Amino acid sequence: MCGIIGAIARRDVQPILLEGLRRLEYRGYDSAGLVVLDPGGALRRERAVGKVEALARRLAERPLAGQLGLAHTRWATHGGPTEANAHPHLSGDDIAVVHNGIIENHQALRTELEARGYTFTSDTDTEVIAHLIMDTCRQGLDLPEAVRRVGHRLQGAYALGVVRRDDPDRLVAVRQGSPLIIGLGIGEHFIASDIQAMLPVTQRFIHLENGDIAELTRDEVRILDADGHAVTRPVSESALTAAAADRGRFRHFMLKEIHEQPRAVAETLEGRLTEDGVPEGLLGPGSEDLLARVRSVQILACGTSYHAGLVARYWIEGLLGLPCRVEVASEFRYRRHAVLPDCLLVTISQSGETADSLAALRQAGEDDYLASLAVCNVPESSLVRESDLVLMTHAGPEIGVASTKAFTTQLVALFLLTLALGRHHGLDADRRRTFAQHLRALPAALEKVLALDAPVERLAMTLVDKQHALFLGRGAHYPIALEGALKLKEISYIHAEAYPAGELKHGPLALVDADMPVVVVAPNNPLLEKLKSNLEEVRARGGHLMVFADDVTALGGDGGIQCLAVPPADDWLSPIVHTVPLQLLAYHTAVLKGTDVDQPRNLAKSVTVE
Ligand code: AGP
Repeated sequence: MCGIIGAIARRDVQPILLEGLRRLEYRGYDSAGLVVLDPGGALRRERAVGKVEALARRLAERPLAGQLGLAHTRWATHGGPTEANAHPHLSGDDIAVVHNGIIENHQALRTELEARGYTFTSDTDTEVIAHLIMDTCRQGLDLPEAVRRVGHRLQGAYALGVVRRDDPDRLVAVRQGSPLIIGLGIGEHFIASDIQAMLPVTQRFIHLENGDIAELTRDEVRILDADGHAVTRPVSESALTAAAADRGRFRHFMLKEIHEQPRAVAETLEGRLTEDGVPEGLLGPGSEDLLARVRSVQILACGTSYHAGLVARYWIEGLLGLPCRVEVASEFRYRRHAVLPDCLLVTISQSGETADSLAALRQAGEDDYLASLAVCNVPESSLVRESDLVLMTHAGPEIGVASTKAFTTQLVALFLLTLALGRHHGLDADRRRTFAQHLRALPAALEKVLALDAPVERLAMTLVDKQHALFLGRGAHYPIALEGALKLKEISYIHAEAYPAGELKHGPLALVDADMPVVVVAPNNPLLEKLKSNLEEVRARGGHLMVFADDVTALGGDGGIQCLAVPPADDWLSPIVHTVPLQLLAYHTAVLKGTDVDQPRNLAKSVTVE
């Protein structure tokens, strides 16, 4: 999604803005732009379609400098990815605006502004904001007041950065639905969509609340809340450094993040395991009483996080016997649903800013849930702040658009939740103790599975020139097949679909021929015999099987089958271990195809619009 960075300083901000844009690239975008107020008092802008590097080349040819400026990476919504549609948008040569989000009533506002003589140079909803602010300033109002009044006319979700030529010592920022953070420096201040963009210049941040308007000068930050009252928001210190978003020795962030999984899982477990399971109060003081009252669970999430929820259903129903529903947040938010009795609402999100998940949480707030619990990777996110209870994953920043370590740490957190519920719902101390031991062994098991990198790369060589692939799994490994298929299509652009293996003969078998690779997640569990019959159905039709199994000898290996031995794991935790080879398969296939692995086309890391 769009990324914003802005700065007001006593030094040239252009290099800060450009570096900020590079650090926002992971969010997904298709054009970039930058504006500064130059020493002569003019707003000077440069924009380019494509990568930030294209903008950097323009700036090398036509340098810009100034001590106040805004920059933006745009992920096209209203109007194609053209230079004219790239931000910042100007009104005349006086107002510059960068915007993340969508203005739903932009068409009516555009018609009104055109009637009053404003000329539009883009197809975007954002240009409306620039002209509206200009129009309001012309009534004699200062920039913060004009922005505040314009905010009342905008419908939708947005974060804005605004500067005015005639107001060289002020940058105005607004948060309404889309994330925006202030970075605090010494004699300089910044705004950005996430802290990554500001880490080279500060580690002190203020997270704006919805409806806040901030006025930044070089020495001061003033914030008004939605009612226009001056407010003080807490300052947080981040332990992250600029190097946290470094690829290190890895060719791509995705590969780095795949390899970080043993450590990320260990950090998610840190301090959360006792001799017989998880400590009391895992979800905070008083949470045990609540967990004892839970009689059902409703999980809401999108994409990869939804897949984590699907695995958790097998755990919560299979180990505890508690009814558990899982639903894609974008569906849940728009339908009438029946609430299960004494239901714990669980939302799962890496970013904590996914618009559909947030809307679903807010929608559920009107219903009779016992409490809401966020499983999330970003402590300051909206989802965390709006939930009653929180279970953080400690994956560290995930930069690759394709989620990897966020997923496995979500699974670990959800297993911890299962153990916490289990204390009150029939999971005896012996079983909890055994699971705690298996969890302690998980980082080492993940290290072992990473050693499959080279053989998986060889498998990828047979996948790279295919157009389609099927993924199969059974039980809790079916969501892992779904996740494997999502990873492959996301970054290699190969069309991939996942099915519960038993569904094969109910339709998808018709697709199977020599050109249809079938990737199978085949752990050695009670369903293996059933799965083997499904593999035979594929083999009999000349299909090409790629099987990830922890007991390859059980599969029989001749003709049409490539087996890869995955280190064995406890059956309940095996979905976590089996995730990794599928991530590697997608990664190597994408690298062989030469796609943009970390920033796949059309996708955004944090989906902050509907
Ligand atoms: C996964 O690879 C994707 N990037 C995507 O499906 C993602 O999981 C989804 O958009 C939800 O994001 P969230 O976890 O930040 O809410």
